[in-house]
Amino acid sequence: MLTVERVNKVYKVGTFGTDELHAVRDVSFDVQRGEVVSLIGESGSGKSTLGRMVLKLISTTDGAIRFEGTDVGGLKRGALREYYRQAQGVFQDPFSSYNPIFKIDRTYETLRSSYFPKVSDADWRAKLHDAIKAVSLEPADVLGKFPHQLSGGQLQRLLIARALLLDIDLLVADEIISMLDASTRIDVLNLLGELKGRGLGILFITHDLSLGNYVSDRVVILYRGRVVESGVTQSVFGDPLHPYTRNLLASVPQLDKRWDEVEAVEAAREAELRGRCIYHEREATPGDAPAGMVEAFPGHYVGCFAMDTDDPCPAAKEAVA
Ligand SMILES: Nc1ncnc2c1ncn2[C@@H]1O[C@H](COP(=O)(O)OP(=O)(O)O)[C@@H](O)[C@H]1O
Ligand SMILES: [Mg+2]
Repeated sequence: MLTVERVNKVYKVGTFGTDELHAVRDVSFDVQRGEVVSLIGESGSGKSTLGRMVLKLISTTDGAIRFEGTDVGGLKRGALREYYRQAQGVFQDPFSSYNPIFKIDRTYETLRSSYFPKVSDADWRAKLHDAIKAVSLEPADVLGKFPHQLSGGQLQRLLIARALLLDIDLLVADEIISMLDASTRIDVLNLLGELKGRGLGILFITHDLSLGNYVSDRVVILYRGRVVESGVTQSVFGDPLHPYTRNLLASVPQLDKRWDEVEAVEAAREAELRGRCIYHEREATPGDAPAGMVEAFPGHYVGCFAMDTDDPCPAAKEAVA
């Protein structure tokens, strides 16, 4: 459904816009219907930049983003509006997505006037109430309220309801859980599971590994704008191959293990890894891995262990010598 093909984003930065910041490098992945794909990486790794490019809120510098085969970057006016009927985003801070002086109803009226101008009042009301109930809220409790009268969890759900009104196929959810307290978190996660059951494809963006593990079918691990590892969630979390993924997983406190035990295991793994880079050992293997990666296990891809291409891993150096 959604394919991201060798996408790059370079921001112009500095006082005169003369410096460049390469925020996303050669990133490829896809999202199918009825599937949750998590984009995981630490702050600044380019996650939101990718989410915004998928929704055409910003342009790509290079590469292609396709939805059902059509290049999203080339969409204009009517075609772009049609795209937004199928693809919507929900972002981190629910409060910033609402105008504080408008009641909740008003947010939905705007949507109605641009997408459903011909729908009757009664039909619209029924449709709106269905969408709000679908996110486990009572229309009477939320419509007619101002944003500050609702909780972050309620606002977040109302944003998802807004997306549902359009009967979307793709939802980009960028750090939507971070602002919520523990009890609402699980509700919103379970809601995503329900949406997936209805056939939605979800790009779930998070810096939190455990959230990625909880919700997703596949994960894409980003490091400094590059994909270092991707694949089926169980495979990537159960058998992480890239040193960065291993470090990420090791830095999540494991409550059932003592800290020094974890460190010992990690040290052993690193020793085993030293001098071997799966990417460069197997680069010649043909297959349909995304550019710059190899398929290490079925559906589990890994990139070079040296993130900086100017300083390749020992295996790559050997291969060149
Ligand atoms: N509009 C922008 N102009 C310049 N640099 C930006 C802009 N947006 C993001 N960046 C930079 O791009 C990098 C990736 O940012 P972002 O995509 O927000 O990462 P993440 O969502 O993973 O935290 C960061 O170094 C960030 O400072
Ligand atoms: Mg972000």
